[in-house]
Amino acid sequence: MDAVVHPDPYPYYTSLAAHRPFEFDASLGLWVTAGPHAVAEVLRHPACGVRPAGAVVPAALSHGPAGAWFGALVRMNDGAAHAAMKPWLKTRLAALPSDRDSLAKLHEATQAACADAYLACGKTSAARLDDFVFRQPMYALAAWLGVPSTQWTEVHADVRELVAAMAEAARPSPREDVLDAGHTAATAMRSRAIRWLEADAVPGTWLQETARSAARNESADFSALTANIVGLFTQTHDACAGLIANSVRRFARGASMTASMRASAAASMERSMSASPADLRVAIKTVSDVIRFDPPVQNTRRFLHTSAVIHGRTLAKGDVILVVLASAVRSPDEVGDMNATDDTAWTFGFGAHACPGRTPASTIAAIGVHAILGGGEDLAPLRNGTAYHPLPNARIARFSA
Ligand code: HEM
Repeated sequence: MDAVVHPDPYPYYTSLAAHRPFEFDASLGLWVTAGPHAVAEVLRHPACGVRPAGAVVPAALSHGPAGAWFGALVRMNDGAAHAAMKPWLKTRLAALPSDRDSLAKLHEATQAACADAYLACGKTSAARLDDFVFRQPMYALAAWLGVPSTQWTEVHADVRELVAAMAEAARPSPREDVLDAGHTAATAMRSRAIRWLEADAVPGTWLQETARSAARNESADFSALTANIVGLFTQTHDACAGLIANSVRRFARGASMTASMRASAAASMERSMSASPADLRVAIKTVSDVIRFDPPVQNTRRFLHTSAVIHGRTLAKGDVILVVLASAVRSPDEVGDMNATDDTAWTFGFGAHACPGRTPASTIAAIGVHAILGGGEDLAPLRNGTAYHPLPNARIARFSA
């Protein structure tokens, strides 16, 4: 568990994958699975569910709006509820436009996030950066889907509360005030999503087309749809922040950026609003390296719904498996070439629950990183930083003390 926030967990992951790909860890009370074969076997196994059998909603959230929202998420369900929503959501996300105008909107949202991070944190650059890496993906996703710009700040604030409440609900003694703030945020986000689909979205955008597509589909469940639109924001929140923050740390350490690349990124930012997608290539390259070699989502979990034999071991109903996604990645040494084609982007999961948001996530993160590089900030003081946000599954570099 500590590996997620360790300065360099990758030698440990390599050793775990080589020597202990599937073992019970008595101190954690969990099975721990590592390496591409065991990880894929677990994530494909029909006995493994995304939530404990009969407990889709965590007990601490179950008595309020955040619980009702959580229980409708594609991410938290197997079987019929998952099958009903996942293919449709995947198709809709694939339909997000990536033309010049849409990318310009993402740049505009990114500039708004820069300005608001400044308002929230002032001149301290590390604190501003910590704010920006969470804020920018929210604004950019909102802009991309068609949320009016007047709502971006509130959406960011509510999603933050909702994500905090989900994390709190997993703790042994959850704090009531954090859970309550999550319930309030869930209500606000669900109402907003209803309004977006009914009338409030920017004309001609993804949300409007999604509303039309749902209206054409008689079996569409409007309540599940609004829950999952809110879910797009919560899925993006920590994961995209990690992708951006870990990319910035990589830049700061000079791992993948020469002085001329830095100059070219800064020059392209000056042309920001008219930038062609090709101008983002430096940021895109780093983001894709981070996806492979310093990934934002390092773990996920699976819960045994029936007894099963997995990787030659017998597991009982109720057993829990920690799936170390980050251990399935081949290291740069193994790949032998930083430019080699990656087989699987394990940080985006695998199997039936694999993330449908890889392309939007990469685009949003690349635009966020591009803005930081072009902002003229001196990243050198961040070079020696090794702090990460204290989270169990997501690796998110932290820049302020
Ligand atoms: C760096 C960014 C991201 C990473 C690393 C990431 C990673 C993941 C992972 C690992 C899962 C599967 C969890 C599991 O199987 O236990 C997942 C599921 C999901 N992600 Fe992402 N995600 C990212 C961004 C996004 C974005 C931008 C969206 C949408 C806008 C999104 C939407 C979803 C959805 C809807 C699911 C649930 C899929 C299902 O359960 O079938 N994600 N993501």
